[in-house]
Amino acid sequence: MAIIRFEEEEREVADGSNVMEACEDMGLPFGCTEGICGTCMSVPSAGAFNLEPMTEKELDFDLPKGQRLACQCVIKGGEVEFTLD
Ligand code: FES
Repeated sequence: MAIIRFEEEEREVADGSNVMEACEDMGLPFGCTEGICGTCMSVPSAGAFNLEPMTEKELDFDLPKGQRLACQCVIKGGEVEFTLD
């Protein structure tokens, strides 16, 4: 099991899961859910190393340093905390 945190809440998800559903449940905003709109841009402020590397869509987005598109993030295991910048 992996743990995702956002704004003092946390959810358990299976290792290897996309984080979107848990983040949305905790209030992180999403739009397109396909790595296009940027609505879900956020910072994995702790445990970023527990995420799979950036997807092609994230790389194409030219994100500011440290930012990820949460709709594209897959957690390998462990814990990750997201914050909005
Ligand atoms: S929800 Fe649109 S980029 Fe993630």
